[in-house]
Amino acid sequence: MGTDILQLLAEEGQGANMKIALGVSGGIAAYKAAEIVRQLQERGARVQVIMTAAAQEFVRPLTFAALSGEKVITSMFSAGAEQPNLDSAVEHISVAQSLDALLVAPATADTIAKFAQGIANDFLSTLYLATKAPVIIAPAMNVNMWEHPATQANLDILRRRGVHIVEPGSGYLACGMVGAGRLAEPEQIVAATLEQLGMAQDLAGQTVLVTAGPTHEPIDPVRYLGNRSSGKMGYALAEAALRRAAKVILVSGPTALQPPAAAETIFVETAQQMRTAVLDRWERCDVIIMAAAVADFHVKSISPEKIKRNGAIELQLEPNADILADLGSLRHAAGKRTPVLIGFAAETQSLLENARDKLTRKLVDAIVVNDVSRPGIGFNSERNEVTIVTAGDAILVPEASKLDVAQRILDAALRIRQPHPAAAIFAD
Ligand code: PMT
Repeated sequence: MGTDILQLLAEEGQGANMKIALGVSGGIAAYKAAEIVRQLQERGARVQVIMTAAAQEFVRPLTFAALSGEKVITSMFSAGAEQPNLDSAVEHISVAQSLDALLVAPATADTIAKFAQGIANDFLSTLYLATKAPVIIAPAMNVNMWEHPATQANLDILRRRGVHIVEPGSGYLACGMVGAGRLAEPEQIVAATLEQLGMAQDLAGQTVLVTAGPTHEPIDPVRYLGNRSSGKMGYALAEAALRRAAKVILVSGPTALQPPAAAETIFVETAQQMRTAVLDRWERCDVIIMAAAVADFHVKSISPEKIKRNGAIELQLEPNADILADLGSLRHAAGKRTPVLIGFAAETQSLLENARDKLTRKLVDAIVVNDVSRPGIGFNSERNEVTIVTAGDAILVPEASKLDVAQRILDAALRIRQPHPAAAIFAD
């Protein structure tokens, strides 16, 4: 494949080049900001963490530096610098100018009060005054502090100024009391931030079906034919689609993984069961992604009793139906363009050639090909590197976590589903 047809999807990811400053103020919920950093990065954002002095009592700056890959700002002047210089003294201005959004999570009563009253006595409060980017705050505090008229009045001031407040949840608080004041879930905070940036949950209202894991084809009551798939790639796709607000149906072969709670999960064992589960549902799906490593054969006659070890045995294998190809044919026969059909290809050689062959033979929109002979990616690993092959393109997604790769596959599914407006005439 020539490099001219290679595009690094990371460069065109939805949140690519977006810079978010995450202010962390001092509360027991400060540790939850780590998960917020991770989720924002998954959407392609660069995250610059700013910690108040109190926040540093709860979490060390090193945690955020390691997670974000960026310097963590801990004071108005360069941390550790013996001679604070002009650069560090005006850093809040340069950070303010480079921001797409300022998110504060958790936001304490003190930080909210400073923002409301225009007090600028640390980096975060100074940055708030200096930036023109949208501001989102996620408060977290004791219920009495939350309900106090002073806090509520400060929040009103901020709301009127256009600051978006991610309301805290109710429940048991770290102080032992019960009531409002618990930091909203990281997913909610990230979703609110992306919404403020005009990046609404782009799979909302869409149903995404994902197959994951191996299939097990029984030989006798205790033995089966299987493969090395762990289900991690498929489960990552399910998780990624949920985070983008899709309704997710996960058809899972046998794995050791816990499915995402919000997905409708159908557990299957054999290729035939997987086929039935998928074909029963395909017509109500907008996107189907087959990441499962479906066994190509099943044993013709399954022994009802455990086969005894009396020398060599012969197993007669019959081919399984190709679920993906069946879906391609059904959709073709219906004369439809939905659901978007994306298959995987587990290859060890001639990756693109084999992927293109599967693309045309199975009548699908894209084949995600991975080199399963490469150590560290593919089967039963945390990471993957894939090329997304469509009729007109081959897009390399460089090695990344399976969740990041999943996000890029969903980006591709959306591009297929919502092609250039000029192509809308062909949509069904
Ligand atoms: O589960 P992990 O440990 O995370 O590993 C991920 C993975 C390596 C399994 C995954 O990335 C992957 O490559 N999945 C597809 C594996 C596979 O079966 O590839 P294939 O080239 O044999 O099949 C091509 C496509 O047809 C696949 O989408 C497959 O789901 C589908 N198929 C295959 C056979 C069959 N009888 N029915 C099918 O629908």
